[in-house]
Amino acid sequence: MSQNKIETDSESSRKVVFFSTRPYEKNVFTALLCERNKSLPPRIEATFFEHPLNPSTAASCKGFSDVVVFVNDNVNAETIDALKHADVEHIALRCAGFNNVDVNAATRAGISVSRVPAYSPETVAEHTLALILTLNRKTHKAYNRVREGNFNLAGLIGFTLHNKTVGVIGTGRIGKAVIRILLGFGCRVLCFDPIEDVSVKKMGAHYVSLDELFAMSAIVTLHCPLNEHSHHIINESSLAQMPDGVMLINTSRGGLVDNDAIIKGLKSRKIGYLGLDVYERESELFFVDHSQEIIQDDVFQRLTTFPNVLITGHQGFFTEEALEEIANTTIDNILSGSNRL
Ligand code: NAI
Repeated sequence: MSQNKIETDSESSRKVVFFSTRPYEKNVFTALLCERNKSLPPRIEATFFEHPLNPSTAASCKGFSDVVVFVNDNVNAETIDALKHADVEHIALRCAGFNNVDVNAATRAGISVSRVPAYSPETVAEHTLALILTLNRKTHKAYNRVREGNFNLAGLIGFTLHNKTVGVIGTGRIGKAVIRILLGFGCRVLCFDPIEDVSVKKMGAHYVSLDELFAMSAIVTLHCPLNEHSHHIINESSLAQMPDGVMLINTSRGGLVDNDAIIKGLKSRKIGYLGLDVYERESELFFVDHSQEIIQDDVFQRLTTFPNVLITGHQGFFTEEALEEIANTTIDNILSGSNRL
């Protein structure tokens, strides 16, 4: 377990511990805190841990007022109980989704929870398009072929995105950014969201039922949060409604898709293309170099064997601009109490 510290000389500083910190994030937060700590108190005394927060590491939060976590930290009721015993006051998520936090347990424990609701939704939207375009035009395969002097185009054929029907599930900040880009490509956009947004209609997209969206979309892309209603929204019966060869994209949360159904769909060719930036059991894999290990997750390994599957390791958020916005908002949330859930 490694740890790094930014200390302040002020007595009125907040002691903040960061979990699951990677060097690229630590650099951004450190630079920001050096600047912020030059202004009026309260200042932030930061400790960075590389390991995740979970029930067994929560006891190490004794002496810290704020705990900063990311997408795969396990902030369940047991963790929260340990945080309460450690006198932690506030959990700050440095991400938008909060499905990994038992918010009710935190409320009962008197611990506030904040998140970064919007940090450049275009960042994730652009990654979604990167997956769609790469899967379609196979630039990842062309790159390798050309480097090896192989200019044969067999197997690289794609389809023209213009005029295709795309189904967008979830028309919040990221969904809307995706719709804007897709309309720019000349796609027909169908969408589903329990709360319809008039600005989406004005852009030229059409709200339909989920069944209609599944039946009519050549591409289905997920932009809703993971909750009890959306868990495994893509399953055997929803796949059965989709056209053969559908392209399925998930840059939202792994638990939105039933992986057994997905693998069956890939084997039967119901799914023609699969692009994932998230995976249901990603907490055991993502953000860490496992290249010298034997990966034990057979479902994940099976997914990587299909020629029409492209997986990225939860990097939809990963741009310089987004990291800076995440750091700024997280520090504001700690100092000013904003963005509480
Ligand atoms: P948002 O809160 O702005 O929008 C979510 C939308 O989904 C809302 O309009 C809501 O009404 C809708 N929704 C809720 N339940 C639904 C359901 N069952 N079916 C269809 N729509 C439903 O959230 P935002 O910022 O657009 O983010 C969406 C998701 O993207 C987040 O929950 C998070 O899981 C994921 N995300 C992924 C990132 C990555 O790096 N891959 C980075 C940031 C967010």
